[in-house]
Amino acid sequence: MRSKIVAGNWKMNKNLQETIYLVEDIASKLADTSAEVMVAPTFVNLSAAVSALESSKIEVVAQNMHFAESGAYTGEISAGMLKAIGIQSVIIGHSERRAYFGETDELLSKKVKAALENNLRVIFCFGEELADRQSGNHFTVVESQLKNALFSLSTGDWKNIVLAYEPVWAIGTGETASPEQAQEMHAFVRKTVAEGFNQGIADDVTILYGGSVKPGNAVEIFAKPDVDGGLIGGAALKTDDFLAIVNAI
Ligand code: 13P
Repeated sequence: MRSKIVAGNWKMNKNLQETIYLVEDIASKLADTSAEVMVAPTFVNLSAAVSALESSKIEVVAQNMHFAESGAYTGEISAGMLKAIGIQSVIIGHSERRAYFGETDELLSKKVKAALENNLRVIFCFGEELADRQSGNHFTVVESQLKNALFSLSTGDWKNIVLAYEPVWAIGTGETASPEQAQEMHAFVRKTVAEGFNQGIADDVTILYGGSVKPGNAVEIFAKPDVDGGLIGGAALKTDDFLAIVNAI
């Protein structure tokens, strides 16, 4: 079922004390909302965030995971380990993972499958680089990212997939895709999913926009019919900004 989601991707920010302070601050000031609100602190602080948010509706999600259940993968974290500490959702395929850690579509496909097998909801990120947009290849790039990582899924798997369109040129740059650019791509994504699966799945899948979403531009972006919420980086690290974005939905 399509839902409204605002998720904060904290990336490699906030130590333990800062994490507890920020999640408690956000929880204490969160107004009543029908949107799903999520925060994604770093791995080491997930447990503490889960405990701190026990009586809150805010969900704690992970930023990444490994595809294997266990074994000789030094430094990695499995889906089962996330489940064991109360995590229900995981971000997969963030452009920083693709760019700095060499994550390919093939690897991401394995991670998505492992997450779904463990009943984790996947927030799958994709998006073109600046050069792709400048050369007019942005639709082709996005289509191939979706096809390579998600099109071997079964129709039933899609109830646990959330998509997050994050144009790389808009991440952390202060340059946002215009609401029209976001809508255009989100509509294209929905059409691609409809062609690969069916219209019902395309209509039901939640598609978030990410890339320099701020209190000042969130209302306009979220107003677009195919934008179901946002994946927020920098602005998710400040209670007032994050909650203003939540309220924008
Ligand atoms: P910014 O909101 O800082 O541009 O980051 C977006 C992002 O990468 C969320 O995953």
